[in-house]
Amino acid sequence: MLRHLSGTPGRFPHFRRAATTLVVTLTPMDVQVVEHPLARARLSTMRDARTDSAAFRAALHELTVMLVYEATREAPLVTDRIHTPVALTDGYRLESPPLLVPVLRAGLGMADQAHKLIPDAQMGFVGLARDEETLLPTPYMESLPESLAGRPVFVLDPMLATGGSMEHTIRMLTGRGATDVTAVCALAAPEGLEHLDEAGLPVRVVTASVDERLNESGFIVPGLGDAGDRQYGTV
Ligand code: PRP
Repeated sequence: MLRHLSGTPGRFPHFRRAATTLVVTLTPMDVQVVEHPLARARLSTMRDARTDSAAFRAALHELTVMLVYEATREAPLVTDRIHTPVALTDGYRLESPPLLVPVLRAGLGMADQAHKLIPDAQMGFVGLARDEETLLPTPYMESLPESLAGRPVFVLDPMLATGGSMEHTIRMLTGRGATDVTAVCALAAPEGLEHLDEAGLPVRVVTASVDERLNESGFIVPGLGDAGDRQYGTV
């Protein structure tokens, strides 16, 4: 169904294309595709099989800045009065900085850049490995605040493939009271978005691309391969 993204809105009730982003509003899930030319260029570097690990990490860092920038576009602000060297004026800061949750391993490559953009954010960690046969996520680490009630959360993971890992992560978060979760992903498969939509979880997705499909091995096509291996090598 999400293959309609670049054409007619299909079953999506709210469909808006801006200069740099495409927003599809499902009920209750929003998908925001960041189509900025610089984002497309960085994603192309990541897709290119000739890109080595160092260049891949650099492109992911830069793309993360753009994705988090867009993900915070509607973030509420609080106003303080501040003195410039010249006058008194209004200053602004995020009312509620999101908890950043990179999903290990691959999400680690997004963590520092997101943190630089939102320096007062706290960070939690989730470790998941997708079984290559079953494609199901196996959790091996969870380090999260006890209560997430009333706190926005940004989950950082370059890839949303079947959606199983993201669903598992979001269920960990909602189990601690989270109701405002944003999945920040370099790219997503239509099948993974459908999976999350059908799960009915309180999530919106911000991504640089919704690709064509998953292949029989559960890899995103055209995709970029395995984001963990591309960054850190195969272990
Ligand atoms: C990749 C990716 C996601 C997951 C996506 O991680 O970073 O976490 O797979 O797949 P899914 O949507 O089908 O669940 P992987 O399990 O390969 O672990 P890694 O980050 O350690 O490479």
